[in-house]
Amino acid sequence: MGLVPESTLEEILSRVDIVELISGYIPLKRAGRGYKALCPFHHEKTPSFTVNPDKQIFHCFGCSAGGNAFGFLMQHERLEFPEAIEALAKRTGVIIHEASPSERKTQNLSEQLYKINECASDFYFNQLHSPEGEPALKYLLKRGIAKETIQRFKIGYAQDKWDGLLNYLRGKGFVLGLIEKSGLIIPKDKGGYYDRFRKRILIPISDSKGRAVAFGARVLDNSLPKYINSPETPVYSKSKVLFGLNLSNEEIRLKDLAVIVEGYFDLIFPYQAGVKNITASCGTALTQEQIRLLKRYSRNVVLVYDSDNAGQMATLRSIDTLIEEGMNVMAARLPEGHDPDSFARQFGPEGFQKLITEAKDIFDYKLDFLKSKYAPLTIPHKAQAASEMLSLISKFSNTVAKSAYIKKLAEELSLDENSLLLELKKTENQNNHIPHKEEKFTPPKASVNSNAPERMIVRLMLEEEELIEQIKEKLAPGDFQDKNISQIITKMFDLFCSGKKINTNSLVNHFTGSHLSKIILEISTSEWPAVSGTQRIIDDCVRRIKESKRKLKQQELCRQLKLAQGPGNELKLNDLLIEFHSLSREGA
Ligand code: GTP
Ligand code: MN
Repeated sequence: MGLVPESTLEEILSRVDIVELISGYIPLKRAGRGYKALCPFHHEKTPSFTVNPDKQIFHCFGCSAGGNAFGFLMQHERLEFPEAIEALAKRTGVIIHEASPSERKTQNLSEQLYKINECASDFYFNQLHSPEGEPALKYLLKRGIAKETIQRFKIGYAQDKWDGLLNYLRGKGFVLGLIEKSGLIIPKDKGGYYDRFRKRILIPISDSKGRAVAFGARVLDNSLPKYINSPETPVYSKSKVLFGLNLSNEEIRLKDLAVIVEGYFDLIFPYQAGVKNITASCGTALTQEQIRLLKRYSRNVVLVYDSDNAGQMATLRSIDTLIEEGMNVMAARLPEGHDPDSFARQFGPEGFQKLITEAKDIFDYKLDFLKSKYAPLTIPHKAQAASEMLSLISKFSNTVAKSAYIKKLAEELSLDENSLLLELKKTENQNNHIPHKEEKFTPPKASVNSNAPERMIVRLMLEEEELIEQIKEKLAPGDFQDKNISQIITKMFDLFCSGKKINTNSLVNHFTGSHLSKIILEISTSEWPAVSGTQRIIDDCVRRIKESKRKLKQQELCRQLKLAQGPGNELKLNDLLIEFHSLSREGA
C-alpha cells in the first residue's frame, strides 16, 4: 500500500468509534465519562486500562500502552501502521486514494534502497561462493556454521576490491547518487566512490518484514575494527532494528519468550543449534523502539550476554529500559569465558535450554552483581549497593512489586525496610522525567515537576483549540525548556498556522512511532488539579515559563561573565553586564 495522505487518516478516524472498536475485543465497563477494562496488554487484576470516548484514545495506567484507534489495532493485532490503516479503512468504508507526488517520492526512495540492499546481498552471497570467497567460506564452516545457515541468513563476502559492488550495482542500472544513499559506497574527496565493505564477511540485517536494510561486516582475522556496519540511512536506523527478529518472531510468540544476545554470531550459532526464539541487539543497549518491536511477540525476555565484565555491564544497561517498557526480565549467567555462541557449541541446545530455565530474576541478577562488586559489604558499600538497587526498583510501575522488592532488598542486605522506602522516594523525586503510571493519579506538583507549566500549556491547547492563537502570541517554542515539549509545541503551532485541526488524536498521529506520542497521551490523560479560570492559568503558566527561561539565561550570562574577567575583555564584560542588569530588571 502506498503512503496515505493525512486527510484520509483523519477521515478514517472521524468515522471510527474507539469504544465500539475496542469493545469488539474486550469487555468495557462504564466509568465516569469513559470506560475501563482489564488491560489486554499486560497481566493485571484490577482494571487500569481506560478508553476516552471524547478524545477517542485509550491509555493504560498500568503499562503505559496507549494510542488512538490505529494504535489499538497495531498493538492488539500486531499490525504495522499501514496495515492498521487498511483494516480501519475497510471497516469505515473510506477509500484510500493515491498519495501526492512528494509523498510518493520518499516512498520511492525507500523502495529503491531496499532493492539496492537486496542486490548487494545477492552479490555478497555469490562472492562467498566464488573462488575469492574461499577463505571466508572456510572460516564460517570452521566456526561450525552450516551451509543451510549461511543460506538462511544469506551471509556473504566482500572481496578485497575497491569497486566490486560499485560496478555490480551500476551494471544493474542504479545511479550513483542513489547507491550513495544506501551507505554501501563512500564518496572520495576528489570525486568518485569506493566500496564501504572490503575483505569482510557480510551479514545482512533485515527489518521486521525481512527486507535487507543494512549490513554488519566482520573481518576474517583479529584485525580491528572487528565489525563495521552500514551507516544510518532512510531505511535503516540502528536503534529501531533487532537483528534476527524477522526469523525468530513466530517462535518468540509461540514460546512467549525472547532470548536476547548481543552479537551476530551469538545469535547465528544458537539459532542453528535450535534456539529459534532469539534476537540480538548488536553491541548497543536496547532502545525503547527495539523493545516495542519485541513486545508485539512477547513480554518475557531472558538476557544472555557474555560472562565478561563488558557483557554484565551491557546487561545492566538494558534492564532499565526493559523494565520501563513493562517487560518481564530475566538474565542468564554464562560460565566464565563463554559467550552464547561458544556455550551453544559446547553444551548444545539442551544446555542452552537449561541455561534459560535457570535464568534469574533481574533483581537477583543485579544484586548478585553488586554484592560481588562491592565486596566486602561494609556499611558504605551496602549503602552504595542499595542505592543502585533502588534505581532499578524505581523503574517498576507496579507498586506491589516495588514494595516486595524493597522488602527483599532489606532482607538481603540486612537493612531497615523503612529507610529504604524513604530513599526510594528520594530516588523517584530525582527522576525528573514523567512521573510513573500510578503516580499520575495524583496531580503533579509544580515544585517537583518543573515542567508542569509547560505541560499545562500543551494540555490547554489540546483541550481548547481556540486558545492556541493567544498562546502563540505569548510564547515561542524556544521558550520551553523541555526539549520534548518544545517539539510538540512547534508541531502544534505549525498545524495551527496551516489551518489543520488539532486535538490529541490528530497530534498523536503526527508522531506515530515516536516517544513524543506517549508524552502527548500522558499529558492529555493525566489528572490535573481542578482549577477554574482558564485565563488566570494561562497567564500564570506563561509567567513561570518565561521566568525559568530568564533564570537560565542569567546563569549562562554569569558563566560568561566569569570567563570574561581577564584583561582585554573590558568591552565584552561591559556588554555582558548591561545585558545582565536588564535581565534582572525584567524579572523584578
Ligand atoms: P565473534 O567475535 O565473531 O564471535 O563476534 P560476535 O558477533 O560474537 O561479537 P562480539 O561478542 O565481539 O561483539 C558483540 C557485538 O558487538 C557484535 O556482534 C557487533 O554487533 C558489536 N561489535 C563488536 N565489535 C565491534 C566493532 O569493532 N565495531 C562495531 N561497530 N561493532 C562491534
Ligand atoms: Mn562471539
